[in-house]
Amino acid sequence: MSSFWNALDRPIIALAPMEDVTDTALRELLLTIADPTALHVVMTEFVSTDGLVHRKARKRIIHRLRVTDQERKLLRQKNVKIVAQIWGNTPENYTQIIKEIADEMEFDGIDINMGCPVPKVVRRGCCSGLIGNPTLAKEIVHAAKEASHLPVSVKTRIGLKTIATEEWASHLLETQPAALTFHGRTQKQMSVGPANWHEIAKAARLRDQLAPHIPIIGNGDIKSIHEAREKCTHHQLDGAMIGRGIFDNPWLFMEEQRERTLEEKLNMLWTHTHLFDRVWQGSKNFHILRRYYSIYCKGFPGCADLRAQLMQTESTAQVAAIIKPLNPAMDI
Ligand SMILES: Cc1cc2nc3c(=O)[nH]c(=O)nc-3n(C[C@H](O)[C@H](O)[C@H](O)COP(=O)(O)O)c2cc1C
Repeated sequence: MSSFWNALDRPIIALAPMEDVTDTALRELLLTIADPTALHVVMTEFVSTDGLVHRKARKRIIHRLRVTDQERKLLRQKNVKIVAQIWGNTPENYTQIIKEIADEMEFDGIDINMGCPVPKVVRRGCCSGLIGNPTLAKEIVHAAKEASHLPVSVKTRIGLKTIATEEWASHLLETQPAALTFHGRTQKQMSVGPANWHEIAKAARLRDQLAPHIPIIGNGDIKSIHEAREKCTHHQLDGAMIGRGIFDNPWLFMEEQRERTLEEKLNMLWTHTHLFDRVWQGSKNFHILRRYYSIYCKGFPGCADLRAQLMQTESTAQVAAIIKPLNPAMDI
C-alpha cells in the first residue's frame, strides 16, 4: 500500500530521531530555518510502548510525543511530515499505543525502533535486540500495521553482532513496511567505526527484487545535504537520514551553505534559548542547552571566552545578559 513516503520528492531527507535532542523545541528551531527542498521528514525521540501503557511511567515520558502548535504550523507551511517513533517488545502494547496515537495525536506515521544498541534494552529483546528475533520483529510490524491507518516504517541496523543485512532486510521486507531506514552499523559497533553504506546499498538491491515500492533510507555519518544527495545517487537509495550532523552545523537543512556571521550565530543561540524556555518552562534541565552553546560559539574572535561564560549559565535571563552587549540591536 502506498503512503506519504512514496509521495515525497526524491531523495527524501529526514532528521534522525535523537533522544533528549530532537524534541519539539529543537525541531521547531530547525524547521524555522529549513528549506522545504532540504527536509521532508522529522521524527520524535523514541518512546517506550511499555512505558506509555503504564500510568506512572507514562507521565515521565509522554512529553517526548509533544508537538507544539508553532511546530505544527511550520510542518504544514513547509510540508514536512512528522513521525512518532516507538519501541518495545510486546505486540499488544504497540496495538494499544498506536490506536491512541492515531486517534488523539496528529502524526503522519509511526516508526518502530529496531536500532537502539544500548545493551540494557538489547538484553530485553527490544530495539536492535529484535534483529536476533525476526519472528517477534515481524509480529510487531504486523500488529503495528493493523492497529491504525498510519503508515508504519522501521529504523534498524545492518546486523546484531555481525553484518546480516540481506537476511535481516528480507525478513523486514516480507512485512511490507511503509519505509525502511538502515543505520550502516551493527548493534555491536554502537557508534564506532564508519557507517557501511555498501551494506545499506545491498538492502536497496534486495528491495528492488522483493518489494520495489518500499523506500529505503540510508543513515550514518552524513554531514551535509549535498553529501546526503550524493550518497542516495551513488547507492541508489530513496533517501538519507541525518542526526549528529546538526551538532556541527545547525543550519544543515538549508540549501545555502556558507560560514554564518557572528550576528547570525548569536541570533540562533538566542532564538534557541528563548524557544527552549517557551516550550519547556523549566520542566527540562537548562544544562541541555550548553551542548549547543559550544556549537554556536565557534569561529569568531573571543568565542572561547564567550563559550566559557555561557557554560556557567543557569537561566535564559543570564544568557540574555551575556549576549545582549555583543549585539545591542538584538531583539532580546
Ligand atoms: C544523542 C543521540 C540519541 C539518539 N536517539 C535515538 C532515538 O531515540 N531513536 C533512534 O532510532 N535512534 C537514535 N539515535 C541514533 C540516530 O538516530 C542515528 O541513527 C545515528 O546517530 C547515526 O546517524 P548520524 O551519524 O547521522 O548521527 C540517537 C543518536 C544520538 C547521537
